[in-house]
Amino acid sequence: MIDNLIEVKGVTKSFGSYLAVDNLSMVVRRGEIVVLLGQTGAGKSTVLNLIMGTTSPNSGSVRVAGFDPHDSFKALKGRLSVSFQTDRLLPWRTAVENAELGLLILGVSKPDARRRAKEWLARVRLDGADDKYVHELSGGMRQRVSLARALAIDPEIVFLDESFSQLDHVTSGTLRRDFYQIARELGKTCVLITHRIDDALEMADRAIVLSQPAKIALEVHIDDAARADPARIAELHAQIAAAMGGEESGS
Ligand SMILES: Nc1ncnc2c1ncn2[C@@H]1O[C@H](COP(=O)(O)OP(=O)(O)OP(=O)(O)O)[C@@H](O)[C@H]1O
Ligand SMILES: [Mg+2]
Repeated sequence: MIDNLIEVKGVTKSFGSYLAVDNLSMVVRRGEIVVLLGQTGAGKSTVLNLIMGTTSPNSGSVRVAGFDPHDSFKALKGRLSVSFQTDRLLPWRTAVENAELGLLILGVSKPDARRRAKEWLARVRLDGADDKYVHELSGGMRQRVSLARALAIDPEIVFLDESFSQLDHVTSGTLRRDFYQIARELGKTCVLITHRIDDALEMADRAIVLSQPAKIALEVHIDDAARADPARIAELHAQIAAAMGGEESGS
């Protein structure tokens, strides 16, 4: 088994003459939760696209479970899952019909997909909402459906791109805690992208702050001992805020 599930080495990515990623190197170990922080435009989503293989670098290399994710897109099918800021649910499908989508695409039989989707909706605390259409769900509930859909395929790696950012403070807080618990329990390897420092402080084993163009401005380790120590958390918060450009970027 490869321990370094994600390896980014000396990656540069430009869009025309615009340099979006500048000689970036980072590793994510199996079972680790890494939070990528940075101001808008820092290149966080671009880094995610490079790791997911939806785009390729101009130079340097990306490896996911040993594969080049761009060239071996199919080899990684079903092993990666992603959930975005907007839930990207299909409005003409119910909650359970959205949650089972990934499974159906991977060829799981309809009854099995339905059963697993229902289990996952219950797991993200949406039991009872199976048959509701997207417009009948709150923003937080939609994000939960999106998470259920991402997790139902049992991926090795879970990516979240600003998944909690559009939600109010309380809703995003409970969702964060639920996600964290599930990710830990299942030992998922996670790369979470956010501009909210609290997301990192609550969930990350490691927080990486990217400055524009994407390169590492700060890297800090966070553990339960730090989380239990308000003074340490305040210190980390200040350090991350400073690396992000001084401004308080949301909460
Ligand atoms: N496909 C593309 N074509 C051209 N430019 C792009 C493309 N994708 C991203 N960019 C540019 O690269 C820079 C980084 O964008 P990216 O979306 O990665 O930032 P981000 O850190 O995710 O920002 P946000 O917090 O707003 O989501 C931006 O200036 C953006 O305009
Ligand atoms: Mg982005």
